Amino acid sequence: MWDPGRPGVPADLRPDIPHPARMYDYYLGGKDNFPADRAAAEKALAANPEFRSTARANRGFLTRAVRCVADLGIDQFLDIGTGIPTAGNTHEIAQAVNPAVRVVYVDNDPIVLSHARALMSGTGSGGTTVLQADLREPAAVLAAVESEELLDFSRPIGLVLAAVLHFLRDEDKPYQVVTTLLDALPSGSHLILSHGTADFIPAAVRDRVTGVYDKATAPLVGRTRDEVRAFLDGLDVLTPGVTTVPLWRPETTPSPDADRVSMYGAVARKP
Ligand SMILES: C[S@@+](CC[C@H](N)C(=O)[O-])C[C@H]1O[C@@H](n2cnc3c(N)ncnc32)[C@H](O)[C@@H]1O
Repeated sequence: MWDPGRPGVPADLRPDIPHPARMYDYYLGGKDNFPADRAAAEKALAANPEFRSTARANRGFLTRAVRCVADLGIDQFLDIGTGIPTAGNTHEIAQAVNPAVRVVYVDNDPIVLSHARALMSGTGSGGTTVLQADLREPAAVLAAVESEELLDFSRPIGLVLAAVLHFLRDEDKPYQVVTTLLDALPSGSHLILSHGTADFIPAAVRDRVTGVYDKATAPLVGRTRDEVRAFLDGLDVLTPGVTTVPLWRPETTPSPDADRVSMYGAVARKP
């Protein structure tokens, strides 16, 4: 297990600054976080105690969505904004459907790279690769994947952008980022998207949470349902469309407040 307290932690991990990947790990009950991450996460939880259940609901969505896309026959995935490994990583979910599935993980946080071994192990034969790159530079992400011939761009790919686009400010041109990535993928590729929203919380709560992330390595930019739907323009959106994450093809009875969870999710096919 990663021990953030041990000597020799690489300097670029910046344990003194909260990182979204490590805060998310804390919400999920993980141990791969530093005191600064825990303090920031506790502040966010104090403002909005539902962060923890939202993170879990997002993981549930990711599981169902990856399984759905693998069931459709997609056998290669590009998962950008991987996060710290937790129960049910993309390659484990997809390789349970088809052991030959290949997964390329991309994250800009060095702590994710430090877990490469966990991300690269699995029962499947397809294999996994972990790259450090930034979603804000989609051409560089694609160049890294293409140069190492990690995926076959002539066949459909599952692009996973789960709980990551809300770390891009409008000036990072998130819509252009998604378009650049999708343009590189062939017809029949699928986009798995989840995205935080402030649609269901009071402005004062939103501002407190935003204030916490403004001091972290990435801001938190909630977007409305229509703004999230706009990421899917030109794609065929699978039923049930853009929903809060627990309401996307639930496998158990959703809780009464499932329609107010602060994360939207959707899966869409490139025609
Ligand atoms: C909230 S976690 C989501 C993890 C996983 N995708 C999930 O849905 O459970 C967000 C991840 O995105 C990564 N991330 C944030 N901004 C990024 C960027 N500009 N480029 C690449 N990864 C980024 C963070 O380091 C973190 O690992």
